[in-house]
Amino acid sequence: MNVSVTGNSHAKIILIGEHSVVYHQPAIALPLPAVQVHAEMTANRDSQQILTSRYYSGDRQDAPIQLQGINRLIDALLAHLAQPDAGFTLTIKSDLPAERGMGSSAATAVAIVRAMYRFFNAPLSHERLLKEVAVSEKIIHGHPSGLDAATASAETPVWFIKGETPQPLPFHLNGYLVIADSGIHGQTGIAVANVAAYRKAHPKQANQAIHHLGELAQQAKVALAQNQVTHLGTILTAAQRDLKQLGVSHPVLDQMMTVTRQNGALGAKLTGGGMGGCMISLAATQADAIRIQQALSGAGFKQTWLQPFLSEETV
Ligand code: MEV
Repeated sequence: MNVSVTGNSHAKIILIGEHSVVYHQPAIALPLPAVQVHAEMTANRDSQQILTSRYYSGDRQDAPIQLQGINRLIDALLAHLAQPDAGFTLTIKSDLPAERGMGSSAATAVAIVRAMYRFFNAPLSHERLLKEVAVSEKIIHGHPSGLDAATASAETPVWFIKGETPQPLPFHLNGYLVIADSGIHGQTGIAVANVAAYRKAHPKQANQAIHHLGELAQQAKVALAQNQVTHLGTILTAAQRDLKQLGVSHPVLDQMMTVTRQNGALGAKLTGGGMGGCMISLAATQADAIRIQQALSGAGFKQTWLQPFLSEETV
């Protein structure tokens, strides 16, 4: 056992394919390494197990409901590592806003699993990491596709199909993504359940939208590889129409997209579970991206991030 160790991970952005990925359509997600989560494990002399995060600080058994997924993950990890009574303080520090579609829960779980395995000097394969993270993601989101966990632990953009090994995605695109937080908590679990309910009530329309999102993801893969930034913008906006039909947009997200379009965005859509959370918009140049950021800020949406797409030579 080590005295003090840290496990890290980062945010993710789904470029295209949220929700349809649950129904085995492909998705593309990008790691956001600048937005970090750290989990620090320190040994305690007694057998107390303390959890410290922005929600709570104290004995982990008394933690509030928001930390239930994390607590179950810790139970499972301590059982797998044959350390049920170890004493430790686990401190979670996160730059990610919670429930905004940036993969906060999966990123936190990835950091915790890495810290725990390091703390007990146990080897951790990538496959094992994803299996461990699936424990807390199931509790928080019901039936996660695994996309968030795969991207929170990836260093490159990924092409993801549920049940298959995520593939690194080569791309070559000159463009910028502006990511903006609506400030409204999205609820991925509820959004996924709403899509399922819509699909039950209107199978034809829902399946059409889901299939179309899959086709758009295929087109986006080509656009990324061939530096078709304007076309990628059109694809993102088309995806947003499908997501809106599936019932996972939000009037505030729609308003933000109007602002970005009026300020030169090539396309825009929600990202992640939706019903709040974040949106992304695509800009051809850095100057356009900054103008979009400023316009969003002027409209009251001050939390934004700017992510250049890197060409494959510089990744
Ligand atoms: C949430 O970040 C992405 C969803 O597609 C759910 C999932 O993939 O599990 C909405």
